[in-house]
Amino acid sequence: MQRCKDIKREFIFCCLENIYTKYLELIICVSAPLRDKRKRNMETIVEVKNLVKKFQIGTGFFTALKGVNLEFTEGEFTGLVGPSGSGKTTLLNIIGSLDVPSEGEVVVLGKSVGNLTPKDAAQLRKEELGFIFQNYNLLPVYTVFENVEFPLLLLNMSSDERKKRVLETLEWVGLTNKVSSRPSQLSGGECQRVAIARAMVKRPKLVLADEPTANLDAANSHNILQTMEKLNRELKTTFIFATHDEKVIGYLRRKIMLADGKVVEDKRTTPNP
Ligand SMILES: Nc1ncnc2c1ncn2[C@@H]1O[C@H](COP(=O)(O)OP(=O)(O)O)[C@@H](O)[C@H]1O
Ligand SMILES: [Mg+2]
Repeated sequence: MQRCKDIKREFIFCCLENIYTKYLELIICVSAPLRDKRKRNMETIVEVKNLVKKFQIGTGFFTALKGVNLEFTEGEFTGLVGPSGSGKTTLLNIIGSLDVPSEGEVVVLGKSVGNLTPKDAAQLRKEELGFIFQNYNLLPVYTVFENVEFPLLLLNMSSDERKKRVLETLEWVGLTNKVSSRPSQLSGGECQRVAIARAMVKRPKLVLADEPTANLDAANSHNILQTMEKLNRELKTTFIFATHDEKVIGYLRRKIMLADGKVVEDKRTTPNP
């Protein structure tokens, strides 16, 4: 009788163990692809697939980008380089959802920019992207503090939180002594540092900088590049530049050469930190 009970118990135990093993196998099978996908999504910031951009000129078209394929991952410090007219700004504008592809697809942080409504594109720019332009684009009647605070006004953030963020960001770019100055009271280099702070204040994943040193002398160019490099290393923010300035090119860890709307070279000099 006791032996019969033992066999029965062993049988039940064996069944339970089998069910448990199958359950574990199922969990591993289901979670592995999800884990890989999450990792991939985290790492890929921008995907450019067979991108063609045509501009209408009169009754015809001018093709500015002729089948561009690129992938950018988290933490890159990369430049689109090439002569004037090669398509750098056009590509940067599409990545920044300021323009749309004519053919192909550009996926930015998981969103296909060609399929976004104007409202969704504005939301993407407002929440996830930072822009730096060659002419700074600061609001002249606003102080340095107010210029940097501006992007945060579009987000749902308390005034205490905004103040903390703005002051912290101005400290990163070395401008805490200019909080109350207006752009007309600043040098070109200081204006560009305000623009960097304005781009960084919402902690975007991706910053796009179009010829950021075009109006700066050599010393100021090196200064703002060192500031951006520091932010890239410390915050892992991805930077994509459009530039033909050799000083900028010297800082890049990946150089994508465009010529006549096509990628003719894609070279990594240093791995991401
Ligand atoms: N809105 C537009 N309409 C027509 N042609 C344009 C437009 N924008 C850019 N282009 C043309 O596309 C080409 C690439 O321009 P762009 O991307 O600004 O070059 P880059 O930034 O490398 O100097 C140029 O020949 C330019 O004239
Ligand atoms: Mg340009």
